[in-house]
Amino acid sequence: MPTVPLRDRAAWKALESHHAELAGRDLRELFAADPDRGERLTAEAAGLYLDYSKNLITDETLRLLVRLAEESGLAEHRDAMFRGEPINVSEHRSVLHVALRLPKGASLVVDGVDVVAQVHEVLDRMAAFARRVRSGDWKGHTGKRIRNIVNIGIGGSDLGPVMAYEALRHYTDRDLTFRFVSNVDATDFVEATRDLSADETLFVISSKTFGTLETLTNAHSARDWLVSRLGTPDAVAKHFVAVSTNAERVAEFGIDTANMFGFWDWVGGRYSMDSAIGLSTMVAIGPEQFHDLLAGFHEMDEHFRSAPPAENLPVLMGLLGVWYANFFGAQTVAVLPYEQYLKRFPAYLQQLTMESNGKHVTLVGDPVDYDTGAVYWGEPGTNGQHSFYQLIHQGTRLIPVDFIGFGKSLNPLGEHHDLLVSNVFAQAQALAFGKTEDEVRAEGTAADVVPHRVMQGNRPSNVLLAEQLTPRLLGCLVALYEHIVFTQGTIWGIDSFDQWGVELGKQLAAQIAPELTSSTEPELGHDSSTNTLIRRYRSLKA
Ligand code: F6P
Repeated sequence: MPTVPLRDRAAWKALESHHAELAGRDLRELFAADPDRGERLTAEAAGLYLDYSKNLITDETLRLLVRLAEESGLAEHRDAMFRGEPINVSEHRSVLHVALRLPKGASLVVDGVDVVAQVHEVLDRMAAFARRVRSGDWKGHTGKRIRNIVNIGIGGSDLGPVMAYEALRHYTDRDLTFRFVSNVDATDFVEATRDLSADETLFVISSKTFGTLETLTNAHSARDWLVSRLGTPDAVAKHFVAVSTNAERVAEFGIDTANMFGFWDWVGGRYSMDSAIGLSTMVAIGPEQFHDLLAGFHEMDEHFRSAPPAENLPVLMGLLGVWYANFFGAQTVAVLPYEQYLKRFPAYLQQLTMESNGKHVTLVGDPVDYDTGAVYWGEPGTNGQHSFYQLIHQGTRLIPVDFIGFGKSLNPLGEHHDLLVSNVFAQAQALAFGKTEDEVRAEGTAADVVPHRVMQGNRPSNVLLAEQLTPRLLGCLVALYEHIVFTQGTIWGIDSFDQWGVELGKQLAAQIAPELTSSTEPELGHDSSTNTLIRRYRSLKA
């Protein structure tokens, strides 16, 4: 890693001066000065077309951002990840989600073990299992075929599966019902199972550690639910499978490890939807289409690994994110898919980006003196347009936007798709170019209303366009954001692969839970606010 602190790097300093020089120039002017900008500032890879021309940049900005990537050792760090080096320094682990999608026959030896062979051994077992469930060959305890699959997991063991299921619903077996239970709030489990018959239901307990409170609580409730309906604990064998790295805990829970699908500690939870954590996805879309999904991931990995920075989609988008976060002070990024099937994509990205890059110290443990990960959020268009877009257009904050659109709808119906996509282009155009006072006045607007109708424009966006949402394309899209996160984490010099920040809350909850349940008034040793809240809760539930 570079020895020069980020803010002292030559490219960073040059970007600071360049940012000051750029003040006052806007996108109207930049487009007028360079009529080909909308064709030039584009890049394409793995079926994804990126128009980044409506960003607050010039060719010089790009040159300096690429220099910053070089001075930050991006290529070296990327290659270290692909080689399986332990770049997750605080957990002393390799970061090898890219190995999950290497094709059969490829080889990647880490600590003397060919991880690709391991990956494909599990993929083959998953495929055999998925085929049995999909064909009806896998029977429940009473001999009926499985019709309902309930994935129980949380964080990376839920968000990937649920996002992929929703995104690829068009490709799923409609004779099977899929539900996803994550929250320890019992409502989640109760509502997900209330209309299911136990003899046709299979639970997939997904947990990397198999020690997560929410998942184990839900898994125990699922077992009680099943056993009480089918009348015997023997039923568990045919109605529970596990996905985990921890065989011991799986066995302790009572799931036969023959029905366990493993993965490895070099797969981070939020990078695991293409590991065995994707079992529900594979059952839903079938092994062949799951392999298409993996192929899409791999295509983007190869692009990230080999394309020059100025043509590299994740590098470009990652650097643009750094530009806005660190030089414009942007606090958030909105991801707005114009594709209803991608409705859970922003929620998925929240864990991917924020658990990865929400860090306050560098790799060597020094406090950072610059902002790191932005807040990611979003909703599908056009719904968001009638809700929060007002603030993006006319509010006082700069919110860079990623629009995602497709050439073809999976459900063509009349003019719907053209109308949908016209809104992608219109929104990006309105954000960039706005409407001047003169233009508002020329429309005959009353003088007192003119200032309200002025749109300043100069609000940046990327537009990502692809032909159609397919399993392969979804893989490309997820890998794109994984590598954006990697690019930014490398520039910021942080560990994008640990998540220590979630631990303290877990420990405190474990301390507080018995104080809420004890039958006698507990002695409370917390701060006065927590103590009072606990007492109030105890009186409310009494
Ligand atoms: O609490 C955060 C976290 O550790 C995530 O990183 C992870 O995806 C999630 O919990 C679930 O963990 P597990 O798969 O081990 O149950």
